[in-house]
Amino acid sequence: MANVTYITFGGKVQKVELESGMSLMEGAIQNDVVGIESICGGNCYCGMCRIYVAHAWRSRVGEATEFELPVLEGFDDPRPGARLACQIKVSPELDGLVVHTPEKQG
Ligand code: FES
Repeated sequence: MANVTYITFGGKVQKVELESGMSLMEGAIQNDVVGIESICGGNCYCGMCRIYVAHAWRSRVGEATEFELPVLEGFDDPRPGARLACQIKVSPELDGLVVHTPEKQG
């Protein structure tokens, strides 16, 4: 389990408790988190689950993978900490994680 906080560009704070093993995208969808959607079902294609990992968490969460980078580079508002939520697995080590959603996702 891990408590994860999603914060929209507009400042809406959404705190959810997620099961280990699910992705941050799956957890967001299951909890109706605003700003995270999925068309590709977590297959690293649509980019609608894009997030920015808070600075303090970046080393623990890790960098974007080679599969994520082409998707992330397709957006014109890059920021440090950009990842695809579907590619991040929840684990107890991520308890307290804070992520932000891009302006275009609400
Ligand atoms: S859900 Fe489509 S890229 Fe993450």
